[in-house]
Amino acid sequence: MNNEQVKQQVLSAFEFRRAIKSYDPDKKIEQSDLEYILEAGRLSPSSVGLEPWRFIVLENEEVKNALHDISWGAKKQFETASHFVLLVARKNAKYDSPIFRELAERWGLPSEQVEKTLDLYKDFQVEHMDIADSEKALFDWTSKQTYIALGNMMTAAALIGVDSCPIEGFHYGKVNEILTEAGVIHDDEGISVMMSLGYRDHDPKRPQLRKDKDEVISYFK
Ligand SMILES: Cc1cc2nc3c(=O)[nH]c(=O)nc-3n(C[C@H](O)[C@H](O)[C@H](O)COP(=O)(O)O)c2cc1C
Repeated sequence: MNNEQVKQQVLSAFEFRRAIKSYDPDKKIEQSDLEYILEAGRLSPSSVGLEPWRFIVLENEEVKNALHDISWGAKKQFETASHFVLLVARKNAKYDSPIFRELAERWGLPSEQVEKTLDLYKDFQVEHMDIADSEKALFDWTSKQTYIALGNMMTAAALIGVDSCPIEGFHYGKVNEILTEAGVIHDDEGISVMMSLGYRDHDPKRPQLRKDKDEVISYFK
């Protein structure tokens, strides 16, 4: 495939991708296709390479039912989607917390460089981003990273004709309670966003509407 064909294929996938609210309940995604979609999430970039996330394929009916009741943005999806993915983000990912040490270990940094790198991240979080003293700001920062993976997974899905919908329409506090109590997430994690996957049962009535290019894109010379 040449570049023009690749561009066309990718843009067609973006046009195909719609926020699908209701799926064909009889059509299930093949495991290998699901794994490919999740891999697109795993390979996604994150700030400082922290990967402050987990992607959990929710297959437990009891937990699904509990979430259904408090997820106003996903009622029909819970009933019909082939798969449901929970994108969870780390809480309190502060420069001096274990997740940063884990990162340094993953990179195999020598100990003297670990301290230097952590000092840099301290500056980044304290001085530059001003998030280090707020649990909420720290969570918003890790949560933002999960949206990159979310976008990539939805695009990867669309490229192979799998439908999806991102979901923020739920009560965050209650979802966290349910997931923590059921042992789906750990105490140092919180729900960031959800994603349903499956095959649409009908095309959306509304066309894909977007602002005009010149409203959104500009070149400042
Ligand atoms: C972060 C995010 C959260 C969303 N949450 C929901 C949701 O809870 N329920 C829902 O039906 N759609 C949800 N949507 C879908 C949007 O409403 C939809 O993407 C938008 O209207 C554009 O339509 P399109 O995706 O079909 O082009 C969400 C979209 C994004 C990006």
